[in-house]
Amino acid sequence: MKTFKIALIPGDGIGPEVVAEGVKVLQAIEQLDPAISFSFTEFPWGCEYYLEHGKMMADDGIEKLKGFDAIYLGAVGYPGVPDHISLWDLLLTIRKEFDQYVNLRPITLLNPALTPLKNKTAEQIDFLVIRENSEGEYAGAGDWLFKGKPEEVVLQTGVFSRKGTERIIRYAYEEAKRSNRTLTSISKANALNYSMVFWDEVFEEVGKEYPDVQTYSYLVDAASLYFVTEPERFEVVVTSNLFGDILTDIGAAITGGMGLATGANINPERSYPSMFEPVHGSAPDISGKGIANPIAAIWSVSQMMDFFGEEKWGKAILSVIQEMLHEKESLTSDLGGESTTTQLGDRFVELLAARS
Ligand code: NAI
Ligand code: MG
Repeated sequence: MKTFKIALIPGDGIGPEVVAEGVKVLQAIEQLDPAISFSFTEFPWGCEYYLEHGKMMADDGIEKLKGFDAIYLGAVGYPGVPDHISLWDLLLTIRKEFDQYVNLRPITLLNPALTPLKNKTAEQIDFLVIRENSEGEYAGAGDWLFKGKPEEVVLQTGVFSRKGTERIIRYAYEEAKRSNRTLTSISKANALNYSMVFWDEVFEEVGKEYPDVQTYSYLVDAASLYFVTEPERFEVVVTSNLFGDILTDIGAAITGGMGLATGANINPERSYPSMFEPVHGSAPDISGKGIANPIAAIWSVSQMMDFFGEEKWGKAILSVIQEMLHEKESLTSDLGGESTTTQLGDRFVELLAARS
């Protein structure tokens, strides 16, 4: 029997509401599969914790998380705490300390009725965005000079190290090779004349090791257009931290919205825990109402299972998501249904059990 140790950080707003449903799915797997068990440890970190303790997580938070196999996070951020504090002091701290330099965001249309794009089929919208997750535009390098004075100057510097750029690009080539798909690099070398010229060079250099992988290279503005007009161009995509952040929201928009988008923060070497989370935030406008869509959070559990090497369960979860997306009454109101968050989770577990 394998036991996976999971740290739960439900966080703020709808975070705890959707994480509860993901945990329900994990517990169902545990029941259905005699070879798997999970242990859960919950940490109360987030904005409420901040308002009480003046910090987003305990001082030894990173130390506490080190021994886990995975971190399962809801969302952080709430009115009353500046967003750059909630983001930097918890989420980005974990991503950086645990060297989770790969962000995996599947852009997969599971029900053609959910895309706002005309005449696009599920086969045409099915790709994986691999976003650099440790440096680039979000390295936090910069300065704020002469604050509040007329000569005020703000610098936000992109940091693209050879190590950081090579490893994300190599990871993407490996994924394209493994899954026999094409690889598209998205950059902006015409305007970002240092960082993105370098990115493109590394993409070509590393590519020499993968002669069998068919590659494409697009500027980010053109790629944004193609995400909407011709998403069928993409199979595996590799891009920088900022571009990946923005492009994957377009990806979410063409596959059913924020209630479905998931992202895994991976430390491929497995020296540290990886982190699984829905892409959406804490949605203060709907929190406490019991209507948040938990499917994104449940999709994260599918990614977690894949990462644990339990692909059978990763696939089973995706199939049930697909099935549910065709069962309108079982969905939450963002997808036109009438179910509450908890009812959706209950129905999900029912369908998962029926398959096993
Ligand atoms: P948001 O994702 O929380 O909400 C955007 C819109 O989508 C809202 O109308 C919301 O009701 C809806 N929505 C989001 N998730 C949903 C779900 N599961 N079911 C149904 N509807 C859903 O983004 P927003 O409003 O920009 O940010 C709110 C807070 O969340 C901010 O403090 C922000 O910093 C934080 N945030 C945290 C993230 C994280 O923890 N990874 C990511 C994005 C934002
Ligand atoms: Mg984002």
